[in-house]
Amino acid sequence: MDIKNICCIGAGYVGGPTMAIIAKYCPDIQINVVDINPDRISQWNASELKDLPIYEPGLKEIVEKCRGKNLHFSTEMKKNISAADLIFISVNTPTKTKGIGSGQAIDLKYVEASSREISKYSKGHTIVVEKSTLPVKTAQTIKAILDAAQKDKSNLENKKTFSVLSNPEFLAEGTAIKDLENPDRVLIGGDDDDAINDLVNIYSKWIEKDKVLRTDLWSSELSKLISNAFLAQRISSINTISALCEATGAKIKDVSLAVGMDRRIGRYFLNSGPGFGGSCFKKDISNLVYISNHYGLFDVAEYWQKVLDINTWQQKRFVELIVNNMFGTISSKKIAVLGFSFKANTNDTRESPAINICKKLIEEGAFLKIYDPKVKKSQIMKDLSSIEKDIDSKKWGYSNSIYSTFENADAALFLTEWGEFASLNWERISNIMRQPAWVFDTRSIVDINQVRGNGISIWQVGYGN
Ligand code: UDX
Ligand code: ADP
Repeated sequence: MDIKNICCIGAGYVGGPTMAIIAKYCPDIQINVVDINPDRISQWNASELKDLPIYEPGLKEIVEKCRGKNLHFSTEMKKNISAADLIFISVNTPTKTKGIGSGQAIDLKYVEASSREISKYSKGHTIVVEKSTLPVKTAQTIKAILDAAQKDKSNLENKKTFSVLSNPEFLAEGTAIKDLENPDRVLIGGDDDDAINDLVNIYSKWIEKDKVLRTDLWSSELSKLISNAFLAQRISSINTISALCEATGAKIKDVSLAVGMDRRIGRYFLNSGPGFGGSCFKKDISNLVYISNHYGLFDVAEYWQKVLDINTWQQKRFVELIVNNMFGTISSKKIAVLGFSFKANTNDTRESPAINICKKLIEEGAFLKIYDPKVKKSQIMKDLSSIEKDIDSKKWGYSNSIYSTFENADAALFLTEWGEFASLNWERISNIMRQPAWVFDTRSIVDINQVRGNGISIWQVGYGN
């Protein structure tokens, strides 16, 4: 089949950038990104490119070039699903918050709703591609819903048929455009060779064919889950060693470098910090724990659960050492918080370590002044109030400019590795902080000599005081 029209259900961190790249390299294909959230769609259609709903380096340039030509954003599900030869499902797949599997299993309600929309509105033969990270065997659910549509009496005249593929996304936020343009691999799971070839033809417009890996559906779904689990496991592993370095005097960056230079280990994902955040790692490992328990593999479940436990342990450890270093109490003290997103170069705060850490500091009685170059005040408000109902402006304030964040602060806490934090004017900062002042650097981002040289005490992850 010659794919001429693509619909993507879900205009989020995955759907938006992925469709932008396909639009860039496939000018002959019309791409419609649809979402049930009208606010999100109007943000994608914003005339000012700075108002796009997600911040991602390189994204706005592509949107500017393709939007209105072969890339469209709308809430019109029926029309765009009907016209599509190929549909990507890129909706959110959060962890269940109630019922069976609560806290671990993935809630498939959005995937199910999308499948039902597809079964209702599609016409002729449609390739349905699951992009969202999904538990193993989800394609089965999608297939079951679509099969029911095929068997429906009303289908006799429409002759709907479907091929379901799994094509998990490996992009990381902050580097999404780079990752999409030059991926390590493209994974496609399925049993319909024609449909797989159609999808491969799209990717081959900018990716070498030998980077495409074909598997069955379940292997593809599981591979995505396990890739994320292995990445998260490396972070938990290095975070345990950060504590050991602090206790023994070894230097974490040297240890990471020495270990990572072994090609069998590799140098990536060995930076210790406040623990992993983002929409994937916690969710996927929780799901892996759930699946392992489901199959009676209790030791396997326990093994992966520990990766999650270490993540929260690291955050709890940080809060305790902040309190201990500040004479045992932070009650009524002002702490400047630098960075709120879960990592640099994104405005995403989902599962950001900053949420948990800020909540604990507020519980200890501190007043926080929070600065992040890309996260808006309204988002921080949402994140903090979802945990602690009575958080109000007496407990934290938002800072619009970096240096004013430090005014009269007793301590500065660095939680995200934004580039601008590496080259601060510490002379200026030491003049506006309250003395004796502390810096707690959970990302090893600030210049330790500059901080000390200006009379401020510093604790850094993996180095200690
Ligand atoms: C991740 C996967 O990398 C991606 O392939 C998948 O598709 C989605 O999940 P993402 O969550 O966007 O991507 O970001 P990633 O760069 O993986 O970072 C996740 C978290 O780990 C961040 O909080 C980051 O700060 C932390 N991290 C990463 C570390 O603490 N140390 C590191 O060395 C690397
Ligand atoms: P991700 O990081 O996986 O892209 P996001 O939450 O950023 O997740 O994006 C998922 C998007 O999917 C949201 O904008 C949400 O409104 C949208 N969505 C969820 N369910 C549906 C649905 N049934 N139809 C269309 N869009 C949906």
